[in-house]
Amino acid sequence: MNIVFYGGGNIAQAVAKGFMLSTLETDNIFYIDRNKKNQDKLKKLQIKNFKNESTVHVDIFILAVKPKDAINAYKDILDNYKNPKIISFVAGIKTKRYLKINKNIELLRAMPNTSSEFGLGITGIYNATFKKNNYLEIIDLFERIGEVVELKKESHMDTFTGMIGSGPAYFFYLLKTYEKKLMVICDQDQKKVNSIILNLMWGVGLSISKDDNLNDLIASVASKKGTTEAGLKSFKSGNLNKVFEKGLSAAIKRSKEISNEF
Ligand SMILES: NC(=O)c1ccc[n+]([C@@H]2O[C@H](COP(=O)([O-])OP(=O)(O)OC[C@H]3O[C@@H](n4cnc5c(N)ncnc54)[C@H](OP(=O)(O)O)[C@@H]3O)[C@@H](O)[C@H]2O)c1
Repeated sequence: MNIVFYGGGNIAQAVAKGFMLSTLETDNIFYIDRNKKNQDKLKKLQIKNFKNESTVHVDIFILAVKPKDAINAYKDILDNYKNPKIISFVAGIKTKRYLKINKNIELLRAMPNTSSEFGLGITGIYNATFKKNNYLEIIDLFERIGEVVELKKESHMDTFTGMIGSGPAYFFYLLKTYEKKLMVICDQDQKKVNSIILNLMWGVGLSISKDDNLNDLIASVASKKGTTEAGLKSFKSGNLNKVFEKGLSAAIKRSKEISNEF
C-alpha cells in the first residue's frame, strides 16, 4: 500500500514511524510538505518527497495539515489525482465540508495520537464514504500502530480529539510538576529525571494492563494515614478531578468550534 502524507509535521512523522515499526516499508511512504525543517526530518527517516515521485500509484492520501490549511490541501489533491482515497487527521473539520467540494470520493477521518510512533497509539476512526473492504484495510493499517476505536457518530470525533488526540500533552503537562521536584533531588540531572519519569509512567501503564479496576490500583498504593492517602485527600479537596474534567471539556469544545470556523 502506497501512502502519501500531505503535511509531514508532528503527527505525520509519529504515524509514519509507527508504520515503519510495523510492516510498512519506507518505500511505500511519501510526503508532500513545504516546511524545510520537516522536509529534513522526513529525509532523515528516509521518507521520500512525493514531488520527485509523481509516477507512483497512490493508494491513500493522509491529510495531516493544520485546519487552516486543510481545504486548500484537499482541493490540491482533488485537482491533481483521480479518485483519491483520503484519510483526514485534521481536527474539527467535518466530512460534510470536504464532501461538499466533491462527494464522489472515499473519505474518512482518523484521529491518532503521537504515541503511534511506538506502536502504542490510539486512533479514533469515523468512516464517511469509504467502501467496506477499503475501510477494513484502513482499520487493519491503524491496528498495526496501536488501538483503534471505531466511532459510529462524527460528533464523537470531537470528544476523541479533545481527550485522546490531545491526551499525551496533558500527561506531559502534569509531569512537569514531577520534573521540577525531581530535578532538585537529582542534582539537575535531566537524563536521570527522564528515566525516573519513564519508569513511573511505564509502571503505571503495565499495572493497568494487569488489572482494569482503577480503584483497586489506587488502593494497592494507598495505605491508611499514609503519604498517598494524604496526597489523594489534598487532590480531592482541591477538586483535581473537576479541574481535569473542565480541561477536557474545553478541548472538546474547541474541537467543535474549529468545525464551525471552516
Ligand atoms: N500533533 C498531534 O498530536 C495531532 C494528533 C492528531 C491529529 N492532529 C491533526 O493533524 C494535523 C497536523 O498537525 P501537526 O501537529 O502535525 O501539524 P504540523 O506539525 O504543523 O504539520 C503540518 C505540516 O504541513 C505543512 N503544510 C501545510 N499546508 C501545506 C501545503 N499546502 N503544502 C505543503 N505543506 C503544507 C506545514 O508547513 P508549514 O509549517 O509551512 O505551515 C507543516 O510542515 C492538524 O490538523 C491536527 O489537528 C495532530
